[in-house]
Amino acid sequence: TSPRWEASADLAVVGTGVAGLTAALRAHSLGLRVLVVTKGAADEGNTRWAQGGVAVVLPGEHEAGDSVDKHVADTLVAGAGLCDDDAVRAIIADGPAAVTRLRELGAVFDPGADGNLARTREGGHSAFRVVHAGGDATGAEIERALLAATRDGRLPILEHHVAVQALRTPAGSVTGLTVLDDCGVPGVITAAAVLLASGGLGQLYQATSNPEVATGDGIALALRAGAPVADIEFVQFHPTVLYTGQGARGRCPLVTEAVRGEGAVLIDATGASVMRGVHPLADLAPRDVVAAAITRRMAEGRGGIDDHVFLDATRLADVDFATRFPTVYAACLAAGIDPAVTPIPVAPAAHFSCGGVIATVDGRTAVPGLYAAGEVASTGLHGANRLASNSLLEGLVVGARAAEAIAADLADGRLGDPRLAVVSDIPVAPVADRDSLQRVMSRYAAIGREAEGLAVVGSVLDVSAVVRPLDTREAVEDAALTLVARSLIAAAAARTESRGCHVRTDFPIRDDANWRRSLVVRLNPSGQ
Ligand code: SIN
Repeated sequence: TSPRWEASADLAVVGTGVAGLTAALRAHSLGLRVLVVTKGAADEGNTRWAQGGVAVVLPGEHEAGDSVDKHVADTLVAGAGLCDDDAVRAIIADGPAAVTRLRELGAVFDPGADGNLARTREGGHSAFRVVHAGGDATGAEIERALLAATRDGRLPILEHHVAVQALRTPAGSVTGLTVLDDCGVPGVITAAAVLLASGGLGQLYQATSNPEVATGDGIALALRAGAPVADIEFVQFHPTVLYTGQGARGRCPLVTEAVRGEGAVLIDATGASVMRGVHPLADLAPRDVVAAAITRRMAEGRGGIDDHVFLDATRLADVDFATRFPTVYAACLAAGIDPAVTPIPVAPAAHFSCGGVIATVDGRTAVPGLYAAGEVASTGLHGANRLASNSLLEGLVVGARAAEAIAADLADGRLGDPRLAVVSDIPVAPVADRDSLQRVMSRYAAIGREAEGLAVVGSVLDVSAVVRPLDTREAVEDAALTLVARSLIAAAAARTESRGCHVRTDFPIRDDANWRRSLVVRLNPSGQ
């Protein structure tokens, strides 16, 4: 099928979460013609589900003993030796300005008693530095404010438009996108720059905190355009989503870490603490440590329960649960649980891709004209395990910096000429059966992996995949899941150690001598 419509812009942005909208607004304010595409409704992505908040050291907090240095140190510890120190410092140092700009756009954060913003704590943080909105509805408030600003600025967003592949010039620069419109009709958007801000890949797994749109599309698109991907084996499992019964599927309601930040503790069915003696920070240990400890405790099956533990928030000091955590409270009530009275049943679920398309802190990838920001990117901020609430921060900072880099690259003539874009038919790609893929990924490539199980995932992908044209949203998503799953299991099989979110039961020890480095995945020329 060949393209039947055409649009043009200076910058095409894929995705309408915090990174994409921040970039689009900044680029628009710098005078660029911006076109934003998103495959669903504009507010359907991961951002609006983010609860805990934005990790940032605001100026007033230095008096309270916090500092950028401490935030950097916490991020490096959580990242388990794989962060890029310079990227970490650059992004964290830009945080206060990014939050200020967001507030100027209209985002309202919760005020604290001391006249500054209210601040909470989450896993791995040595200080109370996570600012939040609406109690536990931070992402929803950020998404609201950014979308309102795009409407005020008349910034065009094409909803229900699916990016299929990058257009490239004969010299290899990315100069636009092939897109299926809201009726499924293929067309092209020519643009000197394309920014991927398409989010994560939680739908690789049966149980995830991510919405349905999180199918790894941007990573697949970038790989096919020649951009390498790093750290893809590090999928972060959030320790606590609400357990709603055996075989829970799809997006599971998150129970924010801030609940533990306010004093809740993890217990098993016998009432014993899960985290005591596991880590000095106990219930507020970094997320990989907590998720792995819960997984081990579930496997022990104490008290006859082997698929969840409990979060006891019945004795929070100075916190009214329903007021402080309205989103979690509503989800619990819908499941028949009053968290003020009964411990909340919780289990880990796929939450965040720490790796992604290799990009600088200005969003530049290895391919001219192709940029990446937010969860789809691997800037070196997260390493082997993201520190809680550093992701909204990264989206705000790198989104804005990417827009500035694109404007500069455009002005300096460093981008390809969109008139030279090679426009081809809709591509074909291997597409595996989604249910089978999610089942084997959950069984063999979640927390606790070993060589044999990873090989099983490979065989299931081989057997169930058929090559088909990417002419529907479903085909684009399934092809992305297939390619990303293949990349992930290749990296997970190669990394013969345990580090951060990557836990190998056959190689349980962290091996700094051989593995203190990122694994890079690229497609071979045949595109497989
Ligand atoms: C949470 O609120 O626990 C999630 C925040 C995050 O993933 O950073």
